[in-house]
Amino acid sequence: MRIFYITTPIYYPNAPPHIGHAYTTIYADVLARYHRLIGDDVFFMTGNDEHGLKLQRVAEKKGVHPKELVDEMAEVYKKYWSLLDISYDHFIRTTDPYHEKVVKEAINKLYKKGLMYKASYSGWYCVDCEKFYSPGEYIEKEGKPYCPIHNKPLELLEEETYYFKLSEFEDYMKDVLANKDIVYPKSYATEILHKIEKEGLRDVSIARPKERVWWGIEVPFDKNYTVYVWFDALLNYVSGIGYLEDEEKFKKYWPNVHHVIGKDILWFHTAIWFSVLKALEIEPPKKLLVHAFLINRGLKIGKSAGNVIAIEDLIERYQDSDGVRYILMRIFNMSKDVDVTTELFDSIYNSELADTLGNLVRRVGVLAKKKLGGKIYKREVERELGARVEEALEKYIKYMNEFDVSLAINIVMDLLREANAYINKTRPWEKTDPGKELYSLLETIRYASIMLYPVIPKAVHKISEAFGFKIVNPLETQLGGVERYNVVNAPILFRKIQSKQ
Ligand code: MSP
Repeated sequence: MRIFYITTPIYYPNAPPHIGHAYTTIYADVLARYHRLIGDDVFFMTGNDEHGLKLQRVAEKKGVHPKELVDEMAEVYKKYWSLLDISYDHFIRTTDPYHEKVVKEAINKLYKKGLMYKASYSGWYCVDCEKFYSPGEYIEKEGKPYCPIHNKPLELLEEETYYFKLSEFEDYMKDVLANKDIVYPKSYATEILHKIEKEGLRDVSIARPKERVWWGIEVPFDKNYTVYVWFDALLNYVSGIGYLEDEEKFKKYWPNVHHVIGKDILWFHTAIWFSVLKALEIEPPKKLLVHAFLINRGLKIGKSAGNVIAIEDLIERYQDSDGVRYILMRIFNMSKDVDVTTELFDSIYNSELADTLGNLVRRVGVLAKKKLGGKIYKREVERELGARVEEALEKYIKYMNEFDVSLAINIVMDLLREANAYINKTRPWEKTDPGKELYSLLETIRYASIMLYPVIPKAVHKISEAFGFKIVNPLETQLGGVERYNVVNAPILFRKIQSKQ
């Protein structure tokens, strides 16, 4: 059995998740569901990044203890992920005791290896990113340094801290980025490689004085410091699968880890993460799947830009999680930012889910009941349509294995369009026994449904119940694999959206 471990970034619970977080999480969920469908042993992990100055400040502003805030928000995140039908196996929180223990042990290891030293640090900090920016990285406005992502003034910090000797890993990083096929799409690896070639790898501060940032994991060898939130957070990927606790579990999942991230956190997930792993004598991840941004009015969608699109509004507009999941995966783009507009979302929903999939299922369901009383016995599948199904499956598997969900979806939609054209051409409603046509169509719908299952699980369950087939591993079924369909109803899966807003 193949093993597939997939992670999302762990999110800062300073606010509820929005469409951008949903984009990442749904993508990871689709890959997790796909791998379960093809029989892999899957472990899918998401969670929250609960320490650091950002959370400390939000809690202070609200007048609550940060732990109270993050406890409350963990439930909020879980509620949203359940609304979106996210099938995670584990929800990790960086305040979980087992995680805190791993962070302490890891930092001790680095310290003992001589990979840390104390020195003073001064630099420009963005609290929203929880990151220092060097000259050349930040933008300037009226002579003042600003965060290029959040468009907010940076804060100047000067303090004694502990450094991690990142510079020692420069050659290792260059080699990994140039020669190992980890980062996908590859252009992101090249981008980081060029940055390291240009600027080198500088040591990074991985501790904060407690008097400034008290909301964090205490540095085990100096109680006046807390661990830098990014160092704490990255380790979730190993603590969540039993690192230093359950060696068997760790050994099973780690070699098969796939991290899904947005491009904003690429530096942390390459230069810093791969180096920390190397320092801990752990292999780099198998794959780092990086996607671009959802944007609105030219800006990355986010709380700071004030252009957030709420998940509940999307679910309401597209009636259920399936509509939202489908739209976001249909536009999913790893290399290019995608502009989010209601017109685009409505048109995808209407033309593909309502008119193509929904309409086909409804027509075939109605015809099957009316013409043959819902009982459609196995016949020879019409040759041309059958060939299309097999071709589609082959391409779908190829794209899904290459993590290209949107291309895989397009393949299925093309197949469904062919099936609609086939009905129009063969006119089964005019025949006394349209058994062959309907069986061929039902087989096509069965395959298309199974292929879409990772994206729209609820709708596919409805189809499988209405028509009487099982959602099985698409690699282990065959055309003509159903002896008899028992069509009990003709569901209306997606109601069209009429109004323009
Ligand atoms: N806590 C860190 C991650 C630590 S992982 C060890 C963090 N959290 S975050 O809450 O800011 O979430 C960042 C992630 O949310 C991005 O990497 C991306 O996956 C997703 N997105 C947030 N806004 C987005 C868009 N507008 N578009 C696409 N993805 C976006 O960073």
